[in-house]
Amino acid sequence: MRRATRGAACAAALLLQGLTAFAQPSSPPPAAPDPFWNVPDLGSLPDDEHGRLVRRGRDLITATYAHLGPNVPDPAKRYAGNNLACSNCHLDAGAKKFGNPLWGLKDRFPQYDAEAGRSISLEQRVNACMTRSMNGRPLPADAPEMRAMLAYIDFLSEGVKPGEILTGYGSGPLAELDRPADPARGAAVYRRTCAVCHGTDGAGLRRSLPATDLGYMVPPLWGPDSFNDGAGMNRLTTIAGFVHANMPNGTSYLFPRLSPEEAWDVAAFVVSQPRPRKADLDRDFPDLLEKPADTPYGPYADGFPREQHVYGPFGPIRAAIARLKAERSGAAPEGAPKAGQ
Ligand code: HEC
Ligand code: HEC
Repeated sequence: MRRATRGAACAAALLLQGLTAFAQPSSPPPAAPDPFWNVPDLGSLPDDEHGRLVRRGRDLITATYAHLGPNVPDPAKRYAGNNLACSNCHLDAGAKKFGNPLWGLKDRFPQYDAEAGRSISLEQRVNACMTRSMNGRPLPADAPEMRAMLAYIDFLSEGVKPGEILTGYGSGPLAELDRPADPARGAAVYRRTCAVCHGTDGAGLRRSLPATDLGYMVPPLWGPDSFNDGAGMNRLTTIAGFVHANMPNGTSYLFPRLSPEEAWDVAAFVVSQPRPRKADLDRDFPDLLEKPADTPYGPYADGFPREQHVYGPFGPIRAAIARLKAERSGAAPEGAPKAGQ
């Protein structure tokens, strides 16, 4: 609750809830009351050194292709391997609930990262997206572009108290199916709902502006200029939740346009398409029991085939992993008698 009085914020939240009820009488209300979300106002920053750094950081996030992309004039600055912008996935420049917000992160790093098997800094987390989502190479921690993006991300955390947990992180929760998600059904959803913007070939739509503009009107979903196979967006739960909460573009998680089934199936279709490959993915998750059930690449410790790790259902995999973890720690699962008793 920042830069708005509590009263005004509550009135706005009530109004929003009222509109929700009015516009979609059949849609269920959010499970718990959703605290009002207020993003700090970048436009009101003074035009001083800090204000300019934060603005530069936002530009780098909304037009990454123009500053760090594979076609920028200075070869030394070609850190990203594709022409995406961070904000193609971190929607509204990282300020959208369930649009992978970059909000309130300042005090959550360094944090343990299972993929790396160690604690990582916020710079290293940005570089995980640089090398996977952007299919590129890491930016040095002291590169001016890294400092600017971090200044912007810190700015988005302004007013968040240490330890405060905000709602809306990630790409949106979605009830899981008890069957594998189906790429063939998803292809039909794609043709019906996505192709008009992302194209039948998934290649997106370049801007029709002069050639100096290197970006997309609509980003590609697969093919050589997309995120690589090690990206978070290539995991079914992430992309299905993101699509359900945000697509077609402009959708709010309060008014999803796809049913959960459609979201899972269309996500299954998208992750089945060709995309760049990242080297050495088998080195991710040095502790295989910490590997999320929907990681689409091996090795796996749970005995389930790759196909089920890609398309689900994930419940049985999680249960097997929990059993293996309990065996490893020597502890019997809760409620069960201990060995030898
Ligand atoms: C109205 C046009 C439109 C429609 C329809 C649409 N999208 Fe998008 N999509 C976009 C735009 C634009 C973005 C980038 C948003 C931004 O940069 O703010 C995007 C971003 C994405 C992203 C993340 C970025 C990336 O490159 O991977 C995914 C995944 C995605 N869309 C999937 C889908 C799926 C699946 C559907 C169909 C259910 C769909 N979209 C329908 C316009 C659309
Ligand atoms: C293709 C989509 C995509 C693009 C492009 C992308 N990211 Fe991400 N990013 C994600 C997803 C999805 C996550 C959530 C974690 C996961 O599942 O891997 C994430 C997580 C993060 C996080 C950690 C957030 C948290 O809550 O802990 C940061 C920081 C981040 N990205 C920064 C960036 C920056 C900076 C760029 C551009 C240089 C970028 N990302 C480009 C998809 C993307």
